[in-house]
Amino acid sequence: MREVLAARAAGGIRGRGDVPPRFRPPLPPRHFVGRDTELARIRAGVTVLHGPGGVGKTALALEWLREKGSGDQLCVDLAAHDLGRVLRAFGLRTEPEDEQAVFRALVARRQFTLLLDNAASAEQVTPLLPASGTVLVTSRSRLDLPQAREIAVGPLPDDERLGPLLDRSYVELPERQARLYRLCAWEPDAFGVPVAAAIAGEPECDVEDALDDLVEKALLTEVGDDAFRFHELVRAHARAKRYQ
Ligand SMILES: Nc1ncnc2c1ncn2[C@@H]1O[C@H](COP(=O)(O)OP(=O)(O)O)[C@@H](O)[C@H]1O
Ligand SMILES: [Mg+2]
Repeated sequence: MREVLAARAAGGIRGRGDVPPRFRPPLPPRHFVGRDTELARIRAGVTVLHGPGGVGKTALALEWLREKGSGDQLCVDLAAHDLGRVLRAFGLRTEPEDEQAVFRALVARRQFTLLLDNAASAEQVTPLLPASGTVLVTSRSRLDLPQAREIAVGPLPDDERLGPLLDRSYVELPERQARLYRLCAWEPDAFGVPVAAAIAGEPECDVEDALDDLVEKALLTEVGDDAFRFHELVRAHARAKRYQ
């Protein structure tokens, strides 16, 4: 009953203004390649993109939103954003127990195309799904949501188009960034600023800015608080640069 009342109350509320910048999907990586089959399979309704961390689920979702998504788009990182915070950003305040219903009503009212990134379970996602519209969900596990299209996202094939695209980004890099790109690619796994600074023999503050720059250019991935990692294909490209 409480749920019905909350949904009805929210039905009258549109949520003010534009989508707050923090909850708009960012642009996909500039050198996005491949995934033609997966992109073609995503349609209206609910689609779950599942696969291991770092395989390219978020990039795929963002590319689809850029290419084919329409209307206002709302992106909620379920691992990082608290639902109450999302609602408050729209000027909606509600009791914690009503948040899910109000969120659904907001999405339905504004006809948002929704990206729910980093879902942990079906239980987490189900209460957030609007009755209609387009929803992309990314998750490390199969969610088996009823009536959802499930797309397994596997590693990118060694696509030869990636090389030239990465080259284009690489030649535009300032020397410090280019050098870090070449050197840090020899780290086998995630690394932090102190490690990168030690490898480069440069002050941490300069290295931190340069790493952020590489992340912005989608050559490096931030995988947590001040930890960075190369996508495996990008790493191979960066390593090859050392010999050129
Ligand atoms: N199709 C692609 N083309 C180019 N780069 C990609 C592609 N897919 C992923 N990447 C890069 O790989 C890294 C990891 O991708 P991401 O989408 O964040 O993985 P996931 O969401 O599965 O953890 C990012 O740096 C991203 O830019
Ligand atoms: Mg992701």
